[in-house]
This record gives sequence, C-alpha cells and structure tokens, in this order.
Amino acid sequence: MLVLNVDDIEQAVRSKLDKMTWDFWAGGANDLITIAENKAAYEEYRIRPRYMRNVTQISTRPRNQLFSGIDFTIPCGLAPSSMHRLAHSDAEHATAKAAKSRSWPMAISSYSTLSLEDAKAAAGDSLVFFQLYVFKNRETSADLVRRAEAAGFKAVLITIDSPFLGLRFAESRNKFTLPPGTEPGNFAGARYAGPIDFAVESKSKSKGPGKNDALGDAKPNIVDPALTFNDIKWLKSITKMQVWVKGVMTAEDAVAAVDAGVDGIWVSNHGGRQLDQCMATLHALPEVVEAVKGRIPVHVDGGVRRGSDIFKALALGADFVWIGRPVLWGLKYGGQAGVELVEQFLEDELRLCMALSGTTSVKEINKSYLTRRGPTW
Ligand code: FNR
Repeated sequence: MLVLNVDDIEQAVRSKLDKMTWDFWAGGANDLITIAENKAAYEEYRIRPRYMRNVTQISTRPRNQLFSGIDFTIPCGLAPSSMHRLAHSDAEHATAKAAKSRSWPMAISSYSTLSLEDAKAAAGDSLVFFQLYVFKNRETSADLVRRAEAAGFKAVLITIDSPFLGLRFAESRNKFTLPPGTEPGNFAGARYAGPIDFAVESKSKSKGPGKNDALGDAKPNIVDPALTFNDIKWLKSITKMQVWVKGVMTAEDAVAAVDAGVDGIWVSNHGGRQLDQCMATLHALPEVVEAVKGRIPVHVDGGVRRGSDIFKALALGADFVWIGRPVLWGLKYGGQAGVELVEQFLEDELRLCMALSGTTSVKEINKSYLTRRGPTW
C-alpha cells in the first residue's frame, strides 16, 4: 500500500504487530471512549477559508519559540511515551534523531528504554522536556530531575493525570509484560511490577520531603497519589529547569497551576489511557486558554493525526500541539526514517492547510478561521 499520511502508517504497522503491543499502544482506559472522542472532537470544527491573499510563501514557524535560542520548524512535537524499544531496536535513539533532523521538539518519558542522557546526546537541542512521574519515593524523582538538568534538558514536565493507573482491560487480558531488552533505561535494576507500573528499588540513601514517612527508602517507586500543586514548590527548589504540568483539563486546574508558579501547561488526558469518559482535550483547550490569559504557554495533545488538526488546535489558542501514538507507528514503520515520515506528512499537510485557508504564518491562525460543523447562520 502506498503510504501517504499518518493513518496509512498506522494501518501499515498494525499487521506487523503482535496483539499485546498493538493493544498496549492503541488501547487505553475502560471502554476507550475518550480515545475516540479526542479524535472526533477535531471533526466538530470546520475551517473558514479566506482567499485572494498571496499564499506563495508559507511559514510554519511557531508564533513564539518554546525556549529562547532553539528554533523549531513547526509548533508540533513528539510527546513522551514509554519504551520505544517495543517499536524498534534503535528505540528512543531513532526518535531523538528524527526530532533533531527536522527540528521538531521532543519530550522523553521517565520510562524510556534508552537513558535520558543517551537520548539527549542523540537529539541535541530538540529534546527539551523530561517527563517526570513523581514517585512516593521522592528521592528517585529528584535523582531523575538532577540528571535531566545535568544532561541539558530545558524543562521537567510533570504528568499529573496518573495518581493511579487507569483501568486497561486489554493489558490485563493480554497479561502485558515487557519483552527482554525493554527494561526502563533510567532505573538500574528495575523490576517490572504489573501493567505499565514499575517498582524500582532506590539505592539512594538521601531522602526528600517524605523523610518522616515510616517506609523511608523502602517506599516503592510508584506514582504518589498524594501529589498536590503545593509540590511544585519542592520541584522548583531542586531544579533551575522550567517546571511544566501535563494533564491539565480544566480552567480551575489551569489557574491553580499558574498560581503554583508553573512555567507552562500541557492540556492532555494521556491519550485516553487514564480517565475514560474524560472530555476531549480539544474541548478542554478553550477554557484553559481563557483562564491562563497568556501568562504562560498552553500546549495540547490527544488525537492529532492531520495537519488540519494542528491548524484547529492553534486556532483555539494552543501554542504547541503534540503527537503521541503516531510517533510509535512511525518508529515501528521505519525507525528514524519512519518518524521523519510522520513529521513530513504533518508539516506538508499543515503548510497546505494554511495556504488553502489563507494564512501565511502561524501568528495569523485564530478562531476566526474556525466554525462549528454545520451551517454558519
Ligand atoms: C503514553 N503517554 C505517556 N505520557 C506520559 O506522560 N508518560 C508516559 O510514559 C506515557 N507513556 C505512553 C505510552 C503509550 C504507549 C502511549 C500511547 C501514550 C501519553 C502521551 O504522552 C500523550 O499524552 C498521548 O499519547 C497523546 O494522545 P495521542 O496523540 O496518542 O492520541
């Protein structure tokens, strides 16, 4: 089959994947309602094109660059997902090089198969975010943060939508386990403890704020469900990197995040893998943008598969848009070249969408270019 877009890549790799891996990537929580709605939300908007505007030259450069001194091609990036070695033997190395070669930003998961240092070396400036799970054993998280800072990351991205793991029936039915060679690269001697959860023995003797806890260092490295926005202070006290939160879905949490001093917000519902029946991210975006009032950047992910999806999210006020599963499809399809193909499709589609709707720069894309599906009167 001639592969011409992101959906084609998904179809092409589906037949190559065993059921366990396909279900792990494509699946999510409970009835998979939110996964479907993340995507469907993009179909509720249509574009109001303008013509006769000289669209010979189109620039997809972001309206504001993400971090000063790093020039990204497009306000779209590679979202963090765990264990890229499931997709390709080159793992995050291939993803990192694909980010670098086309100047796309990338975020790496705490649960990468390559260490954060190795991935950073391959990606250079493109690898900007280290995605962090804050564990009950705070010292494990603090160690990761210090390592990310030393490796040159620009920001730590705390995932806040996973105080507990979502209910993933397919993973339980398939008795999901990691094949040999896909252990998380950031934790020496990690023990795999159950569906997408890891218990890692910390060798560190120093203690974080949990030092009075009776369990102390014996606490397992599972995500701490006691996390609150007050913990942002602690993170800010241990790093000079920017601190961002991933998983904000409401105006209330957006305001709480701004008040807590975060440097950026990432609207996400974890690609429908955590709370099923959670609203679509594109529907959460406007209220978050409205609440933030331009004080800090607002990014979004979930269901983005087309250049026109990127256009719509930008029109609703997102500063950057991120793709999750398409990165894995691309990686499986052809390693670094496969991820580059995904990037190229989305870039070409965004550029054409901009030209055909009469916008020559990302700065011009706003709500006036969108309408709800259906007649406009
Ligand atoms: C994820 N995602 C994710 N997020 C995160 O903060 N840390 C992680 O380790 C992971 N791991 C992960 C694994 C897999 C297999 C998937 C599919 C996703 C969520 C990811 O960052 C992003 O929020 C969603 O994937 C975006 O939705 P789409 O683009 O996949 O629809």
